[in-house]
Amino acid sequence: MATADQLKTLIKSHFDNEVERFNTVSLQIAAHEAQLGHINIADEIRKLVEKSKLNIPRLKHFSNDFQGLILESKTDNRFNDLVVSDQLKARIERILNEDRQKVKLKKHGLDSRRKILLAGAPGTGKTMTASIIAHELGLPLYTILMDKMVTKFMGETSAKLRQVFEFIQERKGVYLFDEFDAIGGERGKDNDVGEMRRVLNSFLQFIERDHSDSIIVAATNNIRLLDSALFRRFDDVLQYNLPTKAEMVRLMENKLGKFKGDYSLPTIVKPISKLSHAEVSQASIDAIKATILADKDKVERSLLIKMLNDRTETHNRKRK
Ligand SMILES: Nc1ncnc2c1ncn2[C@@H]1O[C@H](COP(=O)(O)OP(=O)(O)OP(=O)(O)O)[C@@H](O)[C@H]1O
Ligand SMILES: [Mg+2]
Repeated sequence: MATADQLKTLIKSHFDNEVERFNTVSLQIAAHEAQLGHINIADEIRKLVEKSKLNIPRLKHFSNDFQGLILESKTDNRFNDLVVSDQLKARIERILNEDRQKVKLKKHGLDSRRKILLAGAPGTGKTMTASIIAHELGLPLYTILMDKMVTKFMGETSAKLRQVFEFIQERKGVYLFDEFDAIGGERGKDNDVGEMRRVLNSFLQFIERDHSDSIIVAATNNIRLLDSALFRRFDDVLQYNLPTKAEMVRLMENKLGKFKGDYSLPTIVKPISKLSHAEVSQASIDAIKATILADKDKVERSLLIKMLNDRTETHNRKRK
């Protein structure tokens, strides 16, 4: 007979619509029965699970309207790969921890943090953080490309956003509203200002009314967005900064791995270069590639410096 815990988990996963967990527990019960010598019942349970897998309606998908605007991805970004300050790491850990123990919090009438705003310079790890949260919590990551959404649905973006929030309610996941600036920041420019304001207002309302189990992450590199109306709607606002010298060194160590030569990285990096995490990572990868192509197995110090300088030059040219 299944244990009481297994039965409870089974029932709970049924009501939570967690098919994967339901199947896993069913198979655990089958294994348990097999151990007790109940081979037939074990076999029957396994067959039921196998058969159900064939019939599972594919996970609900967004309608065709959203094609190219909402991307579903599986990621294997690890928390350990993220190079940020200890404070920021602790803030992210708190989000994970609260989600993992949300039942405990609920018992006391408290909600876990699940509406998060990430703000900071390009290439500092905002998108990466959303994918780490998804990976660590075993959830799918849905990225909503806000800029494209606004352009495509001009005039009816709010109605489309409503559909997205309905989906968020139905299917637990991490929902990343990327390039959130598209509705909050660049008002004015070539955009229809009225439409932008409407979309931003409805977005804020949808966020406020959302009581789903999903995690909603909005990412922006526009600091101007951080007005109090926005602050209030989020459970947490995380600020991303350009890497410090120590962070640059850590990033390069991580990226270079076995390709690192016998030199000290702190003597190479210049924080004044204003390079982002993404640019430092990319410079390290550029150096590794050149090394492989030259049939060598260690990245030379001078090559690393050259790649960092190249990135700095490109960076400066872009800023001009
Ligand atoms: N803090 C970080 N730690 C480790 N790697 C990082 C970090 N930030 C960026 N990277 C590397 O750079 C890549 C791009 O970063 P990411 O897409 O997360 O930046 P972003 O902050 O979302 O930028 P944008 O504002 O342009 O969207 C990552 O996939 C990763 O390889
Ligand atoms: Mg991003």
